[in-house]
Amino acid sequence: MKRWLIIGAGDVAARMVPLIQHRARLFALCRNPEKADYWRDLGTTPIIGDLDDPQSLTQIAGIAEGVFHFAPPNLGGDKDLRTRHLISALSRSNSLPQHIVYISTTGVYGDQQGGWVDETTRKQTQSARAIRRVDAENQLRRFACHQTIKLTILRAPGIYAEDRLPLKRLSDQLPLVTKEEDSWSNHIHALDLARSAVKSMYQPRNSRAYNVVDNEPMQIGDFYDQLADHFQLNRAPRLAKEQVKNIISEISWSFIAESRKITNQRLTKELNFEFLYPSVTSCLAKLKLIK
Ligand SMILES: NC(=O)c1ccc[n+]([C@@H]2O[C@H](COP(=O)([O-])OP(=O)(O)OC[C@H]3O[C@@H](n4cnc5c(N)ncnc54)[C@H](OP(=O)(O)O)[C@@H]3O)[C@@H](O)[C@H]2O)c1
Repeated sequence: MKRWLIIGAGDVAARMVPLIQHRARLFALCRNPEKADYWRDLGTTPIIGDLDDPQSLTQIAGIAEGVFHFAPPNLGGDKDLRTRHLISALSRSNSLPQHIVYISTTGVYGDQQGGWVDETTRKQTQSARAIRRVDAENQLRRFACHQTIKLTILRAPGIYAEDRLPLKRLSDQLPLVTKEEDSWSNHIHALDLARSAVKSMYQPRNSRAYNVVDNEPMQIGDFYDQLADHFQLNRAPRLAKEQVKNIISEISWSFIAESRKITNQRLTKELNFEFLYPSVTSCLAKLKLIK
């Protein structure tokens, strides 16, 4: 059984563990010792360590043949120091991992003014958050290239699940943009993202990026309208783009400001990935059947 180390032991990792625990020996880095029991009960061996504290990472060197890196970058600056600390901790052993699977974001593409985007599209990275993601991807590519390690980069859009929906935004009645000016965005069910990481684990490639987005880009307002209708909440008011910008927080605006439609062709063709949830609509339809 190969040993895999999970970095970024959060929601997507927790959905992935049951899919692979019979096929791999799993370790999970926990920065909060209180969560160690949870990860042990799930079937992993927890290791206490914090990517923000390089001294705490000594135990992860040489421990596994594979690494799932699902941790987000630090909150400030334009460099991902967490990934830097991870690479430096892994490099302390002569026994390096053979494969790294990294969850990045489709935010690296920046604003594409509603155009179609694939993995070869020129990046128009704008937000500081996305700049740190590009830095993380580049650090991992350099490490993988110098050390002959396989690297899979999974670029995820807005992650959702039945228990992970932005219903508070609707109940707060925060405005959205009118249909004419609205941006395009993409989604992925958290379980499908976890499944794509498992699929990648068995198909190692040399520094290959995949868009892990479902089949149906949506306008942001349409996404919220679907949720509102499904959960019988009031639809959000629609205003002109400039008005919305002045009302909502900077971080919420950064998601609305960028518009792109992303294709998943490489994921479905090269990795033969099949979605459990090919669209948000299909997920809500399944929920209706369960109700
Ligand atoms: N939200 C979205 O729509 C979206 C979109 C695209 C990509 N992503 C990215 O996809 C990845 C997986 O998502 P997710 O939903 O599983 O995220 P999540 O539930 O927030 O899990 C991320 C985990 O990383 C851990 N972590 C953060 N900083 C750490 C540190 N300094 N040292 C050790 N562990 C640390 C967190 O630990 P704690 O439990 O201690 O906080 C958390 O459990 C994340 O990188 C996320 O940013 C998210």
